[in-house]
Amino acid sequence: MNTDIVFEMTSHSTEKENTAIIILGASGDLAFKKTYPALFGLFKNDFLPKSCQIIGYARSEIKLDEFKKRITSKIKVSDEDKAVLERFLEICTYCSGSYDKKESFQNLDKFVTNLEGEDDRKKNRIFYMALPPTVFISASEGLKENVYSKKGDNRLIVEKPFGKDFDSSRVLSRALSKHWKEDEIYRIDHYLGKEMVKNLMMLRFGNVIFGAVWNRYYISNVQITFKEVIGTEGRGGYFNEFGIIRDIMQNHLFQILSIVAMGRPVTLDAEDVRNEKVKVLRSIKPLSIDDVLLGQYTRSADGKNKGYKDDEGVPQDSYTATFAAAVFNIANERWDGVPFILKCGKALDEAKAEDVPGSIYPGLARNELVIRIQPKEAVYMKVMNKEPGLSNAAVISELDLSYTDRYSLSRIPDAYESLILDVLKGEKSNFVRDDELDAAWKIFTPVLHQIEKEKIKPELYEFGSRGPASLSRWIENHGYKRTHGYQWKSTKL
Ligand code: NDP
Ligand code: BG6
Repeated sequence: MNTDIVFEMTSHSTEKENTAIIILGASGDLAFKKTYPALFGLFKNDFLPKSCQIIGYARSEIKLDEFKKRITSKIKVSDEDKAVLERFLEICTYCSGSYDKKESFQNLDKFVTNLEGEDDRKKNRIFYMALPPTVFISASEGLKENVYSKKGDNRLIVEKPFGKDFDSSRVLSRALSKHWKEDEIYRIDHYLGKEMVKNLMMLRFGNVIFGAVWNRYYISNVQITFKEVIGTEGRGGYFNEFGIIRDIMQNHLFQILSIVAMGRPVTLDAEDVRNEKVKVLRSIKPLSIDDVLLGQYTRSADGKNKGYKDDEGVPQDSYTATFAAAVFNIANERWDGVPFILKCGKALDEAKAEDVPGSIYPGLARNELVIRIQPKEAVYMKVMNKEPGLSNAAVISELDLSYTDRYSLSRIPDAYESLILDVLKGEKSNFVRDDELDAAWKIFTPVLHQIEKEKIKPELYEFGSRGPASLSRWIENHGYKRTHGYQWKSTKL
């Protein structure tokens, strides 16, 4: 039997209410690559509220036709969906204005009010800040003072990065909390919207077999890996200021780590889930430089791909890491002594994000449970098996739940689609709470400052390689031995 994944909508929408979704920074990269395609996906599947307008807002003066062309440039539609796209575009409008002027926000308010109408329905407003972090504070203040709906619910979506270290993250949190209540703020870490990350809780707490061994007595190590085949590709200016630890490890990989490691929440309520995540983070000591390996990519061996320093906006003397591996210990009863090895890098040999929560029986036959987040979502367990036939030899094989083989989904919704739907429903468990941020920044801030102050040089690796040459030795030194001679089929596809 095939199983479809069905969203259950306890809709935010009734005949008695209207919802305006306002995208700030609508002229930008994120908006046309992710936000609008996600909104179209929701519209097409009838998940947007019945009465809804989508208002793009940015400083650029853009004609509506031109704007519509831009926001549809990444939306792929079949012939039969063309009419749906036309209907979607009818609810999309554009208003230009600044992110720090009262008059601009008042003008936006008038624009939205005009679309909502003056009837007595509830008027909900969702503000999506697809903006550079430098304008988060002024925009959030301007919105609260001038565009906040007094006749309905208001929600503010904030994109990462949430600061650069503990202090700057606190400054941002305080500024937001001056105007917005914590339960109105939705901090997006889009990894929390990925299908397999959302599945982690179900795998862990819905299967007795995993619950019983999910601890230091049975798991020898956990690895969480993010690999990208592309380099910084024109985002060098932004990246050079942040580096791979802030761009990927401190947020995307740490969200996965906290779900893998947390205790069973009392209920599935957002606050119960996030309480457990915070407890895990608070059991991790600040990262030491001795537990980190840094790398930076250079031109590819064949010279076809540029090195990091060839990217626009990257200074020639940059020490910014494009690869990082780090090991963490969670000092609690469940995990003490189990290394959590996190690796992330750009311009590597393959694209993959996966989570390997361990070798359940350390020793002779090593079992590995692999949760592949992307591409080709899968859960598989490496098991020892008798070689079929007359031989009695042990071979490594796998119990395999590959999504494409098992489910008849034509596509898995994009993470942004799933998260925007959560915002519409007011479901907060897949968003980052302010104390989660504090706890995560406490772990990373000292080492980030040390790397910057002492200008610690990353080890160079070639574009398209496995990363720094010392990686395998570094990982072995931290408790993991690679199984040779086994290849998971999907990597060959
Ligand atoms: P952009 O650099 O494209 O900026 C978005 C819009 O903001 C621009 O179109 C521009 O619009 C305005 N803007 C740009 N620079 C400034 C500035 N210095 N001062 C005021 N306004 C400015 O950003 P992205 O769309 O790439 O990203 C938006 C947010 O999402 C960021 O916080 C980013 O970190 C985050 N993000 C982005 C991802 C991506 O794939 N792009 C992935 C994950 C997170 P105008 O001039 O018309 O006002
Ligand atoms: C973003 C990072 O948050 O995530 C990018 O800023 C990275 O550097 C991206 O490329 C990866 O997201 P995904 O969904 O493509 O794995």
